[in-house]
Amino acid sequence: MEAPHSPAPAVSLQLTVNSPQQMGELGRRLAKILRPGDLVMLTGELGAGKTTLTRGLGEGLGVRGAVTSPTFVIARVHPSLGDGPPLVHVDAYRLGGGLDEMEDLDLDVSLPDSVVVVEWGDGKVEDLSDDRLHVVIHRAVGDTTDEVREVTLRGLGGRWAGADLTVLSA
Ligand SMILES: Nc1ncnc2c1ncn2[C@@H]1O[C@H](COP(=O)(O)OP(=O)(O)OP(=O)(O)O)[C@@H](O)[C@H]1O
Ligand SMILES: [Mg+2]
Repeated sequence: MEAPHSPAPAVSLQLTVNSPQQMGELGRRLAKILRPGDLVMLTGELGAGKTTLTRGLGEGLGVRGAVTSPTFVIARVHPSLGDGPPLVHVDAYRLGGGLDEMEDLDLDVSLPDSVVVVEWGDGKVEDLSDDRLHVVIHRAVGDTTDEVREVTLRGLGGRWAGADLTVLSA
């Protein structure tokens, strides 16, 4: 049974990504359809490519600072170099208490004005918004190069109803 905070997806798309470069490109394309206040949750095992996708997203948004694995910090704010939204990149891996702790981080930024990307946020940050884009990244079965990823994007909530994700697969 689905948890009450996981409504049926408003939109979904499945893609095969063949290299880290293509994952970056997917992030750059994603940046074009994201708006201030959007929440993107990235799911996938260690080394799946969550940060690689976020790096492309940061490039696409035109934000300051390299997007890296926030190993020693839980969240990092990348301000826009132009007039776009800042990117808030969260690694919720060590965020035990979930949302409350996230709010306690006291980020010097307004989440509704930002694009928020969360790695390892499942079961922790859903309450931030009913409108979410879930991105699930898996290593392709039987891929001996360890370069192929299956990516599933699911938009939840009114924000994503009728959204056109096909620009991501062009
Ligand atoms: N198709 C691909 N997409 C993304 N990364 C890939 C791909 N193929 C190989 N890689 C490599 O896999 C690694 C992915 O690392 P990355 O830090 O992005 O993963 P992650 O999901 O953020 O891991 P973690 O859970 O540790 O934060 C990189 O070294 C990258 O070069
Ligand atoms: Mg990562």
